[in-house]
Amino acid sequence: MEKQNPNLERTRIITQIPSFYVSVEILDTIGSTNDFIKDNALTNSEGWVVLAETQTKGKGRNGRIFVSTKGKGLFCSILLKPVNDNRILNKLSLITPLAMAESIFGLYGLRPMIKWPNDLWLNGKKIAGVLIETQFSQDQKTFDYVVVGIGVNVHTQNFPSEIRDIASSLEDFTQIRIDRNELLIKFLNTFKRYLDTSDFVEEYRKWMLPPGTEVIVTHHGVSYFGRVSWLNENGQLVIEKSDGTSVILNSEEIHLSLK
Ligand code: BTN
Repeated sequence: MEKQNPNLERTRIITQIPSFYVSVEILDTIGSTNDFIKDNALTNSEGWVVLAETQTKGKGRNGRIFVSTKGKGLFCSILLKPVNDNRILNKLSLITPLAMAESIFGLYGLRPMIKWPNDLWLNGKKIAGVLIETQFSQDQKTFDYVVVGIGVNVHTQNFPSEIRDIASSLEDFTQIRIDRNELLIKFLNTFKRYLDTSDFVEEYRKWMLPPGTEVIVTHHGVSYFGRVSWLNENGQLVIEKSDGTSVILNSEEIHLSLK
C-alpha cells in the first residue's frame, strides 16, 4: 500500500514564515502556479505565495514541462515587486536554488549541487528546478513584477521515460519521510534572508559545479564544449572554451549539460 504523505497545511506554514509573505494560497489543481500568479499579479501584493498539490501544465526552463504529480512535490511560486534593476533578476536566479540547497542540507544533511544557474542535483540526478518569469514593459527596460517558481521532486516516483535517467526525488536519498511543510517553511525563511543581503555570490560558489567541470553549453541552438572556470562577482558563469578563450554566461536561454 502506498504511504500517505503529509498534506500542505496553510496555518502551520503562515505561522512560521516572515510577515513579508503576505498570504499563502494552497490550490489543489492548477495549470501552473507561475501562470496563476502572472494572471493575478497586478491585483496582489509582493510576498504572495501560491502552492499547488498538482499542476497540469507545470513549466520548466527553456519550454520544458515540469512533472507535477499530485501530492508528490513542492510546487511553489512567489510574487515579487522589486525595484527596477536587472541585477535583481540575476540575484533571484542564484538565491532561489541556494536557499533550497541550504534548506535540504539543514533538514536532511544532504548536499545538493547547483547546476548553474538553478537546477539542484543529488547524486547525479535532478531533484529541483527554478523558473523565474518577469513581466517587462513594452520598452523592455522596466518590469512590473517577477514570479519566482520552484519545483522540488519530493516523493515523485514514476517519471516519464524521457527524464527517468536524469530525474530523481529527494526522498530517494533520505531515510526519513519528508514533510513538505517543513521543507517549504525552511526554504521561505532562507530565501527571505538572502533577499535581504547582497552577500550571496560567495555562498553560491560553495554549492555550484566545481571549477574544472566539463560542460556543454547550448545557446540559441549552438553548442560548444568548455570547462567551468568561475562565478564572477555579478553571478555570471565564466566558461573556458577548448581554444582557451573565455565566455561569460548570463542565465537566460542557456542550457548547460554535463559532459
Ligand atoms: C526547471 O526545472 O527547468 C524549472 C522547473 C520549475 C518548476 C516550478 S513548479 C512551480 C512553478 N510553476 C511552474 O509551472 N513552474 C515552476
